[in-house]
Amino acid sequence: MEELNYNNPSLIIESANLKPGKVVWRSPSNIAIVKYWGKHGVQLPRNPSVSFTLASSITDTLIEYQPKETPSNEVELELYFHSERKEDFETKVKKYFASLIDIFPFIKQMSFVIRTGNSFPHSAGIASSASAMSALALGLCSIEDELFGGFENDAAFDKKASYLARLGSGSACRSIFPTMSVWGKTSHVEGSSDLYGIGIGDMVHENFKDFHDDILIVSGEEKSVSSTAGHALMEGNPFAEPRYNQARTNMGKVIAAIKAGDLETFGKITEEEALSLHAMMMNSNYLLMRPNSLKIIELVREYRRETNHPIYFTLDAGPNIHLLYPENIMPEVRVFVDEQLAPLCVDNYFIGDWVGEGPEQQ
Ligand code: DP6
Repeated sequence: MEELNYNNPSLIIESANLKPGKVVWRSPSNIAIVKYWGKHGVQLPRNPSVSFTLASSITDTLIEYQPKETPSNEVELELYFHSERKEDFETKVKKYFASLIDIFPFIKQMSFVIRTGNSFPHSAGIASSASAMSALALGLCSIEDELFGGFENDAAFDKKASYLARLGSGSACRSIFPTMSVWGKTSHVEGSSDLYGIGIGDMVHENFKDFHDDILIVSGEEKSVSSTAGHALMEGNPFAEPRYNQARTNMGKVIAAIKAGDLETFGKITEEEALSLHAMMMNSNYLLMRPNSLKIIELVREYRRETNHPIYFTLDAGPNIHLLYPENIMPEVRVFVDEQLAPLCVDNYFIGDWVGEGPEQQ
């Protein structure tokens, strides 16, 4: 595997130059087409994955830093989520910062206050780790940039941010880039790596660039199994190897479809991937779909048969349905969603999202 060592003992600030500062990033969530499910080592994927970067499901993160009053080896950090101290997330972020001390030794010199919030309601039950962890990783790279400079160019910045985001949450490394991103070494995409995501926007056919993702909230409950626990279940799963091979093959097929603008192949792989992910969970005795997830899937397939519209579903490791379709059929699809699918959602709620331009420094 590729060697990449970001450990850098020289990222320490002279005491006389220590001064407070802040950085703000807005980073999006993403929706995987070929799914990352199964990991090993330090957050390394068992198979390559590809995702759409979203636009409206975002996390805003402000990191304020100031020199510690008394030097210590501990991470000093307070975290506020929508203005309220959030201890469980704070503990997670503290651990994350502590794990990065060899890369950013200046973390030990600072005390941090992090203020973060999501555009989507917590009750939507949608995964926020990709947007949250990518925003933090980008923030830390910006602090490095402000204090030490030295990034060769934007690509070097994005690569490091993606590498760091991966260490926080695997799928977060795909949130750094506009339009679409690939994470995990695959012969089908040059420059792909298990260590970081890369942007593939330049190879995406026009047919996919204005895709919508209506996220249908079937249940707002907390996930019954965390992604970390879910990935771990793959280790004892007798179907794990065939699943990883299926994902590797699907990468080839879907990348070709994404380049060619082949909606039909794209849709077939997208749905196969979602159902295969859920089949893996079922093998471990978890049933993550709800009755309304299945009802929606059947209605989507029926609507597609009747209209011939390129509209496809996918799911993450939960019950909510992501409805993917191009902009040109949106007016018609929204009537279908409003009339037939929204009534199957919690309080008729769905989030209208679409393919986005990637993170922004504020
Ligand atoms: C089903 O990235 O949340 O959404 O690396 O343990 O943080 P960790 O897992 P996470 O897993 C996401 C899995 C998925 C598929 C995907 O996004 O590729």
